[in-house]
Amino acid sequence: MSSYAITGAARGIGFEFVNQLSTDPENTVFALVRSKTTADRLVALGRPNVHILEADITNTNGLKYAAAEVARITGSSLDYLINNAGFVESERDGLTLESYSSEELLTKDLLDSFKVNVVGVIHTINIFLPLLKNGKAKKVVTISSGVGDLDLTIGFEIATFAPYSISKAAVNMANAKYAAQYKSEGFVFLAISPGVVDTSTRPPTADELERFNVMIGKLRKVYPDFTGPITPETSVRMQLEVINRTTVDDTGAFISHKGNKEWL
Ligand SMILES: NC(=O)c1ccc[n+]([C@@H]2O[C@H](COP(=O)([O-])OP(=O)(O)OC[C@H]3O[C@@H](n4cnc5c(N)ncnc54)[C@H](OP(=O)(O)O)[C@@H]3O)[C@@H](O)[C@H]2O)c1
Repeated sequence: MSSYAITGAARGIGFEFVNQLSTDPENTVFALVRSKTTADRLVALGRPNVHILEADITNTNGLKYAAAEVARITGSSLDYLINNAGFVESERDGLTLESYSSEELLTKDLLDSFKVNVVGVIHTINIFLPLLKNGKAKKVVTISSGVGDLDLTIGFEIATFAPYSISKAAVNMANAKYAAQYKSEGFVFLAISPGVVDTSTRPPTADELERFNVMIGKLRKVYPDFTGPITPETSVRMQLEVINRTTVDDTGAFISHKGNKEWL
C-alpha cells in the first residue's frame, strides 16, 4: 500500500499514471490538475482511492493547499511524487534559437518553459518534501525528455524544440542537486524520459506533422527500427517498472523508460 501524487494528471501520461496506479485499491493516488473542470476522465474512473486536487505548479499557494489535503488524508506522509506536468510551446517548436522573428518571442518561450518545467517542479518538490520525508518509498520522479540529453542533441543534430529542451536539461540538474542533498536520507530522485508518446487530443496540423516527421527522420538514422510513438499505457507501464526497480544507488539519474540512455 503506497501513496502517490502526480501533477498534470488530467490527461496524457499523467492521467495514465493515475489510471495504472489506482487499479490497486490499496494505493492512495492524488491526481493534481490545473482545474477540476478538465478532470472528466479522472472522475469517470470512479475510483474511491483517487483524490482529485487542484494545483497549477506555477502557483505555490495552490501547491501548498494540495499538500495540506494530502497530509490530511494520509496523516502527513507521501511515498511517491511524480512531477509530470510540463509545458510545450507547440506553435514555435520548429524554430531554432536564432530563427525567432523577435527577441521578445524567444524570451517568452524560454521563460514560459523554465517557469513550468523547472521552477514549478522545484517548488512542487520543496512543498511536498516534508510529507515525502515521512513516506516509506521516498521517491521523487520528474518526467524529463530525451531532448534534454546533450549526446542526443549533438548526435542527432536536433536544433529545434530549443526552449523546451533547455528547460528539461535544467530540470535534470535540479534532480541531481536534490539527489546530492538527500541521498544520505535514503531518497531516490529520478529524471525519466517517457519515450516518444502519443498523447495527442486531436489530429496534427500539416505543419505539426511535417516538423514531427523531420524529427523522426533524424531519430531513425540512429534507431532504424523506430516505428513511431508508443501509447501512454506502454510508456507508463515501462516507466513504473523502472521506478520500482531503482534504488538509492540510482539517485540523481536521468534515464529513459527503458532504464538506460536509449531514448526511443
Ligand atoms: N508525450 C511525449 O512524447 C513526451 C516526450 C518526452 C517528455 N514528455 C513529458 O512528459 C510529461 C507529460 O507529457 P504529455 O505528453 O502527457 O503532456 P500533455 O498531454 O501535454 O499534458 C500535459 C499536462 O501537464 C499539465 N500542465 C501544464 N502546465 C501545467 C501547470 N502550470 N501546472 C499544472 N499542470 C500543468 C496539463 O494540464 P491541463 O490539462 O490543464 O492543460 C496537462 O495535464 C511532460 O512533462 C512532458 O514534457 C512527453
